[in-house]
Amino acid sequence: MKILSVINEKGGVGKTFVTTQLGYFCRYKLGNRVLVVDLDQQNNTGEILSQSGLCSLNPASSGQILRDGESISTDSEFLVVPGDDTLLELESLNEEARVAMNLNNALETVADNFDLCIIDCPPSADVRQLAALSVSTNYLIPFQAKAESISGVDKTMTRASIISQEINTELELVGLLLSMVKMQGIQKENFEQIMKSTGNLLLKKFDPRTKEEKDFCFIPERSEFTAAQQFHRPVFFSEGGKPRKEAAELARVWISLVHKLGLPIHKPLRIGQNPETKKLFEIKGENE
Ligand SMILES: Nc1ncnc2c1ncn2[C@@H]1O[C@H](COP(=O)(O)OP(=O)(O)O)[C@@H](O)[C@H]1O
Ligand SMILES: [Mg+2]
Repeated sequence: MKILSVINEKGGVGKTFVTTQLGYFCRYKLGNRVLVVDLDQQNNTGEILSQSGLCSLNPASSGQILRDGESISTDSEFLVVPGDDTLLELESLNEEARVAMNLNNALETVADNFDLCIIDCPPSADVRQLAALSVSTNYLIPFQAKAESISGVDKTMTRASIISQEINTELELVGLLLSMVKMQGIQKENFEQIMKSTGNLLLKKFDPRTKEEKDFCFIPERSEFTAAQQFHRPVFFSEGGKPRKEAAELARVWISLVHKLGLPIHKPLRIGQNPETKKLFEIKGENE
């Protein structure tokens, strides 16, 4: 099981967007078994995924796992562990090692049940972030082309490099991922600056046909993406079944990420929609 921390000390940079949409993509387009852990007490990720109808909810919250050593269910192949206020108690326990060990034990127990675990990290440099980086195989830093967001990247990279030297030598950066990109005005200027300072750390774009990596990935800002999050659905799902151009654009980012992680690629799974409630569901047993 690959364990990917989606991390940045700044809020509002697209961590939840990346976590949820990458989760749907890996589950439904690539047929992977996907576990998502929300370490943010706001539980945006837990809420979005469980409301979508496509993902089951773990009985124990992430806070209960980290604090009390609760476990992760193996009953579902697409599961989210929700965040809650228990997470806020962890800092005052002063037991960083035990908290990280609890997360490690819970994930180790289900390592054969999932192909990928995505950890949505809180926008704070605390014991949760330390625990996430201590147990991860990889990390991804989504960020915006804004000065504050860039300073968040520096801090996160510094912490991660300390952890990879002292605690988790397996930990590897998959890349920095520019998100919510608007190619105009001040952002354009920042963008050019970023290319100079972080160019070689940006997540590279992978072309599955030529098997070549070139340029770099970024996620543009699209009203379609905000809407997909608001209505708890994958960007690639459309009621009429007609593929959207925005979905193809985003798929290229996820394919590059999946390539970098070395994840398996299976058959896609089908999604159904209840015509009355509009709720989505996984069509079991008759895969494409
Ligand atoms: N590429 C994008 N285009 C448009 N809206 C986006 C995009 N990425 C995220 N959003 C929206 O921006 C807001 C903040 O993003 P979110 O993923 O919640 O950030 P974080 O988890 O880092 O705080 C959310 O309302 C989300 O739906
Ligand atoms: Mg979030």
